Amino acid sequence: MDDNLQASILIVDDDRAAIVAMQEILASLGARLVAASSGEEALRCVLEDDFAAILMDVKMPGIDGFTTAKMIRERKRSRYTPIIFLTAESGADLTPMFRGYQAGAVDYIQKPVIPEVLRSKLAVFVGLHDMNRMLSAELAERALTEQRLRSSEENLRALAAHLQSVREEERIHIAREIHDELGQALTGLKFDIGKLAKTACRDDPDTSQKIGGLSQNIDRIINSVRRIASGLRPEVLDEMGLAAAIEWQAREFQRRTGVRCTVDIEPGFADPDKERSTALFRIFQELLTNVARHANATRVTARLADDDGLSLDVEDNGRGVRSEELEGNKSLGFLGLRERVLAFGGSIEVRGEEGKGTKVSVSIPNLQQQPTFHA
Ligand SMILES: Nc1ncnc2c1ncn2[C@@H]1O[C@H](COP(=O)(O)OP(=O)(O)OP(=O)(O)O)[C@@H](O)[C@H]1O
Ligand SMILES: [Mg+2]
Repeated sequence: MDDNLQASILIVDDDRAAIVAMQEILASLGARLVAASSGEEALRCVLEDDFAAILMDVKMPGIDGFTTAKMIRERKRSRYTPIIFLTAESGADLTPMFRGYQAGAVDYIQKPVIPEVLRSKLAVFVGLHDMNRMLSAELAERALTEQRLRSSEENLRALAAHLQSVREEERIHIAREIHDELGQALTGLKFDIGKLAKTACRDDPDTSQKIGGLSQNIDRIINSVRRIASGLRPEVLDEMGLAAAIEWQAREFQRRTGVRCTVDIEPGFADPDKERSTALFRIFQELLTNVARHANATRVTARLADDDGLSLDVEDNGRGVRSEELEGNKSLGFLGLRERVLAFGGSIEVRGEEGKGTKVSVSIPNLQQQPTFHA
């Protein structure tokens, strides 16, 4: 066994011959045997080492066995170390034995000892000690694993938040490129075609009609470009803020799906910072997508407020989500929402009632308002 893990037994006796005899009796236990010839030396030993058990002679010059035991018990490191007293005295007076137990003894043995009895008593303590060490090592290992898990979870969460913001930045960038570059080029083209139609084809109705058709096509493409850009990142969110974007999204949803969608925005609601606005807007979009795909609803009501933190509630009157649909990897959409909300220290609650509908409540702490001081 590793020297550090090997159990140790402390033998305290002022009689050198008694120590040697004990060492012989206990040799087969396989424990490390440490000898101390006085109470003082024993106290030094327990400061440096943990012992599976201590064999203590009662009568010693200097501090006697009882006092030494008491002092050992008072120290944190050795508070629970089992102490076995050995005494040469025999007789009817039980007082010393009681004193021994009061000083924290687990056993009180009279000399001469019976080797087998002492060995088997100590074997129990050595076994307990070994088991204790194994348990402590296991506990330490478990604590370490838990800590590793926690930190890897934190890393994953940070990574998810980072990916989310990279994705949003990319969307903004692509939306802008499409809108500005393509949009401008198409508008230019439409303008040129308009001029062409006026000048070159005045007397050629057929060509004029074809050019008119081309111009209409370009209009359609311009509309598609706007729609695609706005799908990636609606301008209204950047230009008019969260409340306006949520209202716009609700109207769009109603127009596209035919499901009635109303939004109640708390009077005086102030749009939060860009990150929170983006998160709540994307969550709203995701929840509306769920309604369209799964709910079979005819009506959606949403509420946006800032009372003790930002809150967004979206409720539909559809079939109602079942709790088993929210478990495991069947609900990656909700998992993403939860991560998104957790990145702000917020929470999300999903409740479904069969045949009645689904209600999702999201809350995110708002940025700390600067306190205003009045002179
Ligand atoms: N409003 C709703 N009404 C009824 N059922 C719903 C509603 N929203 C979600 N569900 C159910 O919960 C499941 C999990 O939703 P979640 O958004 O996590 O995944 P998803 O929409 O299936 O896939 P995605 O990852 O594309 O979002 C859905 O598959 C659906 O069965
Ligand atoms: Mg979904």
